[in-house]
Amino acid sequence: ELDDELTKLDKEFWISGSKLKDIVKYFRKELEEGLSKDKQNIPMNITWVHSLPSGKEKGTILTLDLGGTNLRVCKVTLHGDEAAGTRKHTLEQEQYTLPQSLKTGEADSLWTFVAEKVEDFVKSKGLDQEYSSDKPMPVGFTFSYPATQGRIDHAILQTWTKGFDIKGVEGEDVAQQLRKHLEARELPVELICVINDTVGAMVASAYTDPETIIGGIFGTGCNAAYMAHTSAIKKLDANDQRITDASRHNGTAAGDEKMAINCEYGAFDNAHRILPRTKFDEQIDTESPRPGEQTFEKLSAGLYLGEIFRLVLVDLLDRGLVFPSSQTQNTTALKQPYSIDTGLLSQIEDDESPSLTQTRNLLSDILSLQPTDADIELCRRLAEIIAVRGARLCACGVAAICLNEGIQAGHVAADGSVANKHPKFKKRWASALGEVLEWRGEVDPITITSAEDGSGVGCAIIGAMELERRGMVR
Ligand code: BG6
Ligand code: GLC
Repeated sequence: ELDDELTKLDKEFWISGSKLKDIVKYFRKELEEGLSKDKQNIPMNITWVHSLPSGKEKGTILTLDLGGTNLRVCKVTLHGDEAAGTRKHTLEQEQYTLPQSLKTGEADSLWTFVAEKVEDFVKSKGLDQEYSSDKPMPVGFTFSYPATQGRIDHAILQTWTKGFDIKGVEGEDVAQQLRKHLEARELPVELICVINDTVGAMVASAYTDPETIIGGIFGTGCNAAYMAHTSAIKKLDANDQRITDASRHNGTAAGDEKMAINCEYGAFDNAHRILPRTKFDEQIDTESPRPGEQTFEKLSAGLYLGEIFRLVLVDLLDRGLVFPSSQTQNTTALKQPYSIDTGLLSQIEDDESPSLTQTRNLLSDILSLQPTDADIELCRRLAEIIAVRGARLCACGVAAICLNEGIQAGHVAADGSVANKHPKFKKRWASALGEVLEWRGEVDPITITSAEDGSGVGCAIIGAMELERRGMVR
């Protein structure tokens, strides 16, 4: 009976090569629409990052990274290309866990927490002695949520994603909210740019790898950024003085101006036209703080893979198919929403012991379950089925960008817990991309690489480019 269930699940979760191609077709259309007009399903956010780095960027910047689990504060010094061609940087950092209660609390508590940690960092590093209100330390903020940016130091939150639900921030300028809290503490700092983690990953990676074409995050959330020709961004005023100025400043040839686009493609197919959703995906959506949003992300990103796994197991348990009660089961943990981290799926797939001893131990240590051999085998297959679907879907977003932009080769600089920690993600992703783009050769022309530190180094580089553009190199 369990075998029949597995076959059914396998079928439900499997996305064939031809279905991937259909998905990419819709994906291309939604990316295109996002570039044409405001308020489309995929936002295709304009970032005011006009170019990839030259490698000569210099300066010391304080960077903040607010992305989901942690707040990271770094002091980054970029040395430009002074050090014999090796584009060096130095970095000091502190990481602070975001209390769970903050994620569904009020704006004021969030910014108080952030400003307090900035104050701790600034004081512990003696930066309050080095900088003053006349000569403040520039701050770059990696805010990894969809935001409308009329300027690089301005970011209106469109909607929370990744399970966040903090009141009083959506529709507001997060830069202004943070600035107010920093000012109240009289810190000698000045917020100069707000960026997305995908843009940071792309820029940091391009600093050392000129073949970088896309920055992708495959982590708690799922998203990508690339450099678009401004002529393709129909919703952008081609005569915007800032584009002309940036182009003159960067020495870009007329007609070749570019702008980094943060796609925010986790929102792909919110109209539910093409993605094959199971009843488990539907349940995740209904019970999330923002039902109907981030449809693509809810099928493919780290925040949700463990939860999908849990929901399938609970369904099988309720039908008496797994974890038999003769084994004195404690199912409290399994019944707890989001009790299974996606890391567990990675660990299960990592288990190479012949009798899957590691998987047995994980199920009993983390979930207090007493699995039978059949349960263990099922968990193994299930972890694979869910992760395979996620990785194959993740390839669709990148394929759609490459097809729309005519990109035929290069590196997709990837960051995030799924890309970095899942043992088979990159391989599955690459094989799905090859199926969609119909590669026949021995060597893949587009490959996934490990991104350099986007929210630290990438954010600092963007800050330095911005300061240089403003003519105030520090
Ligand atoms: C980190 C980057 O390594 O990965 C962040 O510095 C990014 O900018 C993060 O947001 C994404 O990964 P995850 O798994 O934490 O969502
Ligand atoms: C979510 C966010 C997006 C971010 C991604 C990866 O999709 O909306 O801004 O880039 O997660 O962290």
